[in-house]
Amino acid sequence: MNVLDTFKLDGKTAVVTGGGGLYGRQVVEAVAEAGAKTFAAGFTMQKEEKTAEKLRSAGWDVTAVQYDQGSEESIQALLDTVVKQAGRVDVLVNNAVVRPMKSWDSPTEDFIKSMKVNATGLYLMTRLFGNHMAERGGGSIVNIGSIHGMIAPDFTLYEGLGWGAPPDYFFHKGGMLQLTRYAASTLGPMGVRVNVISPGGFFNHQEDIFVQRYNKRTLLGRMADETDLKGAVVFLASDASSYVTGANLVVDAGYTVK
Ligand SMILES: NC(=O)c1ccc[n+]([C@@H]2O[C@H](COP(=O)([O-])OP(=O)(O)OC[C@H]3O[C@@H](n4cnc5c(N)ncnc54)[C@H](O)[C@@H]3O)[C@@H](O)[C@H]2O)c1
Repeated sequence: MNVLDTFKLDGKTAVVTGGGGLYGRQVVEAVAEAGAKTFAAGFTMQKEEKTAEKLRSAGWDVTAVQYDQGSEESIQALLDTVVKQAGRVDVLVNNAVVRPMKSWDSPTEDFIKSMKVNATGLYLMTRLFGNHMAERGGGSIVNIGSIHGMIAPDFTLYEGLGWGAPPDYFFHKGGMLQLTRYAASTLGPMGVRVNVISPGGFFNHQEDIFVQRYNKRTLLGRMADETDLKGAVVFLASDASSYVTGANLVVDAGYTVK
């Protein structure tokens, strides 16, 4: 088989959570362009509908679907809906995130809200969809982590800006690395691969001073754009990575090695 054919997702079904967000849009685009019947799952839906509509008009098979990652019933309903419509799930990209905390001293309630979706919800997504894939004899789960799951915050980046790096984010992104390894170990014998991608910061028109500081911290001198994650996602979702599981693919322009 030609190596390029191993990257194709033709005939497969993919679910991307947070499919209308900053990174989510390009993740949906990537798996759809690779040939998957794609479900862009989201909470509030306007952005997911917009992403799905745009890609459908370009000829790709994309459907928006609502769910709440803070509810086990809703996660089960998402799986049931996709299986009803497509027969199965071959690829899950856990990309959704909620960011209730602002700083170290944010209300405890915000930490709990974060964990409900970003920790418990992530575990349930991985368990329910992973078990479904295991029953079918295979699949690929790609978790979207962050460099902030790997390193300490650099608060100098945010000096004078009034926003920054909240603790819950570092906590659940760090946990995601270990959940990925645990799930890879549990589901590997049933043919399900589980990997994590740790991206760096996405350029979203942040203050010039922040962007300048951030760019200097990378080896390539820039933040991520609307295509930078696509290749990594398709690689891990497809048979191109058939011997890769439990891995952390860092996509950060060298931020974490500097
Ligand atoms: N933006 C960055 O600079 C950056 C950097 C590194 C990693 N990441 C990671 O990339 C992923 C996407 O981040 P983003 O910045 O594009 O996110 P975003 O805030 O733009 O989008 C978040 C998405 O999550 C969904 N969501 C929120 N709460 C939900 C719930 N309860 N149930 C279901 N869906 C829910 C929303 O519908 C939305 O589509 C995240 O995992 C994030 O940690 C982002």
